Amino acid sequence: MKRMLKACLFVLLLASAQTSMAQNPSPQTHKITYGPYLQNLTSDGVIISFATNYASMSHIEVREKGSTQVSHYETLKDGLRMTHITQNNICVDGLQPNTEYEYRVVSRKTEKYDPYDIRFGEPIHSDWYSFKTFDPTSEEFTFVATSDIHDDAAKCETLLRNQPLDEAEAVFFVGDIICDISRIGQAYTGVIEPATKLFAKNKPLVLARGNHEVRGYHCRELDDYFARTDGKYYSLQRYGKTAVLILDSGEDKADASKVFNGVKALEQYIDEEIEWLREVVKSKEWRKAAHRIVMIHIPPASQPMRDIEALNKILCWGSKRWGEKALDIFNRADVDLMISGHTHKYFFVPERKGEQNYPLIINDNRSAMSVKIDEEGIAVKVTNLDGEVLLDEQFKD
Ligand SMILES: [Fe+2]
Repeated sequence: MKRMLKACLFVLLLASAQTSMAQNPSPQTHKITYGPYLQNLTSDGVIISFATNYASMSHIEVREKGSTQVSHYETLKDGLRMTHITQNNICVDGLQPNTEYEYRVVSRKTEKYDPYDIRFGEPIHSDWYSFKTFDPTSEEFTFVATSDIHDDAAKCETLLRNQPLDEAEAVFFVGDIICDISRIGQAYTGVIEPATKLFAKNKPLVLARGNHEVRGYHCRELDDYFARTDGKYYSLQRYGKTAVLILDSGEDKADASKVFNGVKALEQYIDEEIEWLREVVKSKEWRKAAHRIVMIHIPPASQPMRDIEALNKILCWGSKRWGEKALDIFNRADVDLMISGHTHKYFFVPERKGEQNYPLIINDNRSAMSVKIDEEGIAVKVTNLDGEVLLDEQFKD
């Protein structure tokens, strides 16, 4: 609940930052152009995101499945409704755990906004869609993860279609899903559109920021599209009894690298994140979890990784820095599985006690995986675009 409340506050701030795109002058019908898609689904809330073609005032209607009683949710800022925005991230809270809900978007185009003459168009409604809140007592959690799609919507769709999306309760994008963000709306066409088509109306999508998501001028507005938790791109999330650490691995090169020309201050940011990490792995939420997963785009370098020659050759600056600063934290944190990407080459690095106390899967740029967690442990199946199974393994934890 605390996490969700903080997320709600963040969404309010986000809405204020969205000065709204200029009204589209073409005489199109007012419509929902992207989404709705779900983020930050917990046992008691969710964020519902969508975009409209015209600046508008929108809200979400939510009802428990089978009930006719409808609740309204909207974004408020200091006592004001958001009346002139195209991008919406509406926080729905106060829900019951392990309960199925239905929702729809309602939006009215802002026709006129003069001081004493404010007018809106007729409301448009999306279809009703459904989602189920998580059960905090559940031992089971099934998810899909992929990485390094680099704006390739067709590849994203093919990869995800080959995964058991019906069984999955969430889909994780472990970085470099969007590439060098140089235009507004890039996130929609590259990933949100295929995700919405395949699963995200009903199940949440989660992004772990990669190095290509901190490049391009518009990377600064990534949070218009991807809701953060507690205002950060790193967080500890719970899915039933499974704890998932979503980490932000920053850049693969130093801030002082010539190509960045002084625009990065990520080293200090990552250092703060590592200090947070040091504390969060001591928390009850992490320690008492039945299963513990880490997702980080750039894998922290370890000796077992260096011993794989093909991997050692391509270890970047960021990987080595994470290894030096945080490997000991991960090694003491009872991590059951770490999932990374970045290398564009698939590697499985088995656990080696004292050096890397967890198995590491490095996803390439043409594979995705399904992960099924239950009392038996963690079953992972990695499949590439050709349908070849790269890994089919059950990890005991
Ligand atoms: Fe990367």
